[in-house]
Parts: sequence; C-alpha cells; structure tokens
Amino acid sequence: MSTAAENSPVLRCEDIEVSYGAFKAVTNVSYQFKPGLLYGLIGPNGAGKTTLMNALSGRAQLSNGRVFLNEEEITGQSPHARTWAGLGRSFQITQIFAEMTVFENLRLAAQAHRFRLQPFWRPVGKFKEIADDAERVLSEIGLEGFGHVNAGSLSHGDQRALEIGLALLSEPKVLLLDEPLAGVGHDVAEKAVELIRKVSQGRTVLLIEHNMDVVMEISDEIIVMLAGEILAAGEAETIKRDPRVRTAYLGEEE
Ligand SMILES: Nc1ncnc2c1ncn2[C@@H]1O[C@H](COP(=O)(O)OP(=O)(O)O)[C@@H](O)[C@H]1O
Ligand SMILES: [Mg+2]
Repeated sequence: MSTAAENSPVLRCEDIEVSYGAFKAVTNVSYQFKPGLLYGLIGPNGAGKTTLMNALSGRAQLSNGRVFLNEEEITGQSPHARTWAGLGRSFQITQIFAEMTVFENLRLAAQAHRFRLQPFWRPVGKFKEIADDAERVLSEIGLEGFGHVNAGSLSHGDQRALEIGLALLSEPKVLLLDEPLAGVGHDVAEKAVELIRKVSQGRTVLLIEHNMDVVMEISDEIIVMLAGEILAAGEAETIKRDPRVRTAYLGEEE
C-alpha cells in the first residue's frame, strides 16, 4: 500500500535555468527526485552538474524555473533556509575548522542544529544531547578513534568523511554531494563508497561523481547532463546502453 506522500517527489525542479550573461550553464531542467533513492549525476566537465546542484541548494540564482521541497516552493529561499527545511549539502574542506578537533567540528554543527530547533534562550540542558549527536555521527562516519585529532591533520579521505558528517548533523532528508570522492585514493574510495551507501539509507541523495564504476554500482537512478541539459535519465543498465550517452562520453572515457 502506498500513500500520496510516499509517491510524491521529495525534491522537484521545474524548467530550471541558470545564466551567466548570455551563457546558459543550466537550461530546461525539470526533474522529480523520489524519496529514499540515490541519484548519480554524471556528465562531461562543464556540463552544468555543479551549477544544477547549486540551483537546487540556493547557491546559484535562477534565471528561470522553480524548485520544490516536499511540494513546497523554495525557489526564493536562502541556502540556510533550505538546509533547515531538510535540504543538506556536504560542506567543503575549507569549511572545516582545521585547528579544532574532529569532535569539536561535529559538536559545533550539532549545536547549530539543536539551537535552531529550540531557541537558545530557553533553559535547556542540551549540552549532553549535542555531545551525543556529535558522538553518534563520529561513529557513523567511521572516525571513532579520531575525535581528539585536529581536523586539519586528518587524511584527505577522512576529511571528506568529516564533511559528510557535518552535513548529517542538520538531519537532511535530501543530501547533495558534489564529488565527495575527489582526490580520495583508490584504497580509501571503497570505504567512502560504503559511507555514501550508508548515509543514503532513509534519505534521498544526489551524488556527482566521475568514477563511472562507482556511479553505476551505487545509484538507483542516473541522470546524465550535457551542455546544461539533462540528456538522459534512468537505471544504470539503460544508461549504459543509451547511444546518446555513449556519444556524449566519446573521448571522455578513462
Ligand atoms: N560563476 C560562474 N560564472 C560564469 N560561468 C560559470 C560559473 N559557474 C559555472 N560556469 C560555467 O558553467 C558551465 C557549467 O559549469 P559546472 O556546473 O561547474 O559544470 P560541471 O560541474 O558539470 O563540471 C561551465 O561552462 C562553467 O565554466
Ligand atoms: Mg562540477
């Protein structure tokens, strides 16, 4: 049995366009993201993947189109408002406080989230809850032994995991990940893929990733962009066989 809420998209965009002067980085993009699925967003460099993600998260201004989160229009909303509404985006390394410990980084993000849920001036004994949140995510991202380590001295792969952890503390229903495996060594990538798989449980994930094997393996649905538009979308097997996709990637194959 399914209800209307289960069937309705958790995130939806309608005829989105992002222009830089006369150049359209994203155009004509309409898509419905269903609850609980992992979407792989692929396409050649410059195809508009990051711009589309920015358009969804509120970091790029639309020259046309609308965005809906749980069928509520969020088109004009700030990135912060969208985060609060459940649209999370992985932090970038530069947003990690390198001089602070891994735990302190997580604790700050947890605090920001808790204090938003309940005004800070209320007499609350929330510090334990905040520490518990941080502790839970620390173990979720597989960094249990590293809580006391300065974030800046983590390996690159572990920093990327921390970025995901910081995003998790806002309890996103939809999580946007722009190349979370970029620069991560082959040995660590497998661990990172497992982490993405794990955090996608019970939420919708939109993942930009260059490694085709990874994308094909973990995505429920794949969206292919080319020249600012969606060229094709569907399950891995369908996408692999699509002649338009093959053409778009000619000369791009690794
Ligand atoms: N702030 C910007 N100003 C001008 N052009 C931009 C800007 N951001 C992106 N672009 C251009 O938009 C196109 C799509 O970029 P991007 O979304 O980063 O592609 P992708 O993530 O698929 O590699 C590229 O041609 C890029 O140069
Ligand atoms: Mg990009």
